[in-house]
Amino acid sequence: MTEVSMRARDAMTEDISLLAFLSHYLDRELPARPPRADHMPWGWEGHILFADMLVRGVRPRLLVELGTHTGVSFFAFCEAVRAAWLPTRCIAVDTWKGDEQAGFYGEEVYADVAAHAEAHYPLIATLMRMPFDEALASMDEASIDILHIDGLHTYDAVRHDFDAWLPKVRPGGIVLLHDVAEQREGFGVWKLWLEIAPLSPETCRFPHSHGLGVWRKPGGPALDDVFLRALLASGPEASAAVQAMILHLHRQMRCRRQLAERDEQARDLDRRRHAAETACADLHTRLADLHAYLADLEQRQASLMASRSWRMTRPLRAIAAWARSVLAGHAGRAGRD
Ligand SMILES: C[S@@+](CC[C@H](N)C(=O)[O-])C[C@H]1O[C@@H](n2cnc3c(N)ncnc32)[C@H](O)[C@@H]1O
Repeated sequence: MTEVSMRARDAMTEDISLLAFLSHYLDRELPARPPRADHMPWGWEGHILFADMLVRGVRPRLLVELGTHTGVSFFAFCEAVRAAWLPTRCIAVDTWKGDEQAGFYGEEVYADVAAHAEAHYPLIATLMRMPFDEALASMDEASIDILHIDGLHTYDAVRHDFDAWLPKVRPGGIVLLHDVAEQREGFGVWKLWLEIAPLSPETCRFPHSHGLGVWRKPGGPALDDVFLRALLASGPEASAAVQAMILHLHRQMRCRRQLAERDEQARDLDRRRHAAETACADLHTRLADLHAYLADLEQRQASLMASRSWRMTRPLRAIAAWARSVLAGHAGRAGRD
């Protein structure tokens, strides 16, 4: 076999492995379990599928997230770890008080996240409720395989978080930066991205859902995972094609979830319609019973009035009616006096 045909065969094997990897996601549900359904439509929702792919590709021992809030991203990572049966430790660092961009929030958010972590990921999730800088001391150098930075998104804050935490990431580890596409006033992740992207040959940047930068720390071994190789190390065209496929799969999953939600709503409406119809039929039956009862009463009244005793007691009823009217008049005058 010539070198050219060997290269073509290797490329084809690579493509087939990649397709096999991606086909795992066809016809599947969104791999996420947020604490509450109303937490889903958050900015991070569009990256949930990628979180699963990344975790499968990296097989991290330690994953750290800076900025968890309601846990959309954190539980996407935890769920990916659980689904792949990995022995990964996922650490979430947050004050769970909020910040000027995410907004400040109450104790119930932390209570929700802690209860969800305890209920579903007791062996996977660890919550560190403290400022990022304080958590630094408890992390070993070069120990983190995946670091997700999603705290305050001002340039100064994100630059500080990146610089402070980078030594904790192992060479070849992955740093994720959320909101990298956000250009609103006060957001500076895009600026940090411009500075750090040239420092690594293995990066990519998803533009959707506020943007997610994927940055591989230089110095690690060559990537051995076919998906990560295609995304980060096979050039811009291959990376763009993989990104497009991920987005397509994500949209497909989202449509399927929306369809399932609509189906559930339709089933609920059907149940309510059925209950209303049953109640209506019940009312009709009771109305028919009342009509029958009324007809019976009318008939009895008619036969009573036609009876001899009724006719004979007519003078008595007239006297009683007269007495009632006299008494009523008397009572009325007494009241006025
Ligand atoms: C954008 S939210 C995180 C969103 C989350 N990743 C998701 O998927 O929905 C930012 C969070 O970072 C936290 N935060 C910001 N700066 C922090 C700091 N220096 N130390 C600890 N927590 C911080 C805030 O409390 C807030 O909950």
